[in-house]
Amino acid sequence: MDGNGRWAKARYLPRTAGHHQGVKVARKVVEICAREGVEVLTLFAFSSENWKRPQGEVSTLMELFISALRREAKDLAKNNVRLQVIGDRSGFPEKLQDEMSTAEKITADSTGMRLLIAANYGGRWDLIQAMQQLGQRIQNGELAVEDITETMIGSVLSTANLPEPDLFIRTGGEHRISNFLLWQLAYTELFFTEKFWPEFDEDELQKAFQVYQQRERRFGMISEQINA
Ligand code: IPE
Ligand code: MG
Repeated sequence: MDGNGRWAKARYLPRTAGHHQGVKVARKVVEICAREGVEVLTLFAFSSENWKRPQGEVSTLMELFISALRREAKDLAKNNVRLQVIGDRSGFPEKLQDEMSTAEKITADSTGMRLLIAANYGGRWDLIQAMQQLGQRIQNGELAVEDITETMIGSVLSTANLPEPDLFIRTGGEHRISNFLLWQLAYTELFFTEKFWPEFDEDELQKAFQVYQQRERRFGMISEQINA
């Protein structure tokens, strides 16, 4: 979800106005994805690197998080959406950590769409914590180095037990991954749009779905094999 600040600046508004609008768009996108049968939606809300922003902006983002979690959790549960926060939560204020756990508990019994909020998340952080888990098992004598497999690494990442993403969407015109789900995106189709996140809408989302449908996913094979 990129481009909140630039969207606001173009309207002579403070950057934080862009974040407020961004929350509204996120809400709408969750609603559309749930309706369209998306199984897992991951929103990159706050990266491990976003702490470097001006302190006022960071505080606004924290407050927006808290209020959105508090406001939306019950509605998510009502719509059968299960929320889960991925990332290093220990970096957040305690109040926000509590709010995250509460929202997860409220939606824990939902069986519909899984909504992952990546917060204080970084793909490299995820790989580090995964390696630490496996390293610990090796150190405990529970695992042999040569027994490490792709599946095992997948199972200690923060997206354990979830399918790998089919489609990645980045708004705001930048063409990069910026430390999102590095391992998980290996075969994901990438879609980039110039639209800023606050102006991302159903039309643009449907366009991304259509583009995705036209792609041929070969997973290293050739066209004829896929079609057979
Ligand atoms: C994305 O918009 C929102 C967050 C990272 C929280 P930005 O804040 O990165 O907006 P730009 O890229 O400066 O326009
Ligand atoms: Mg940005």
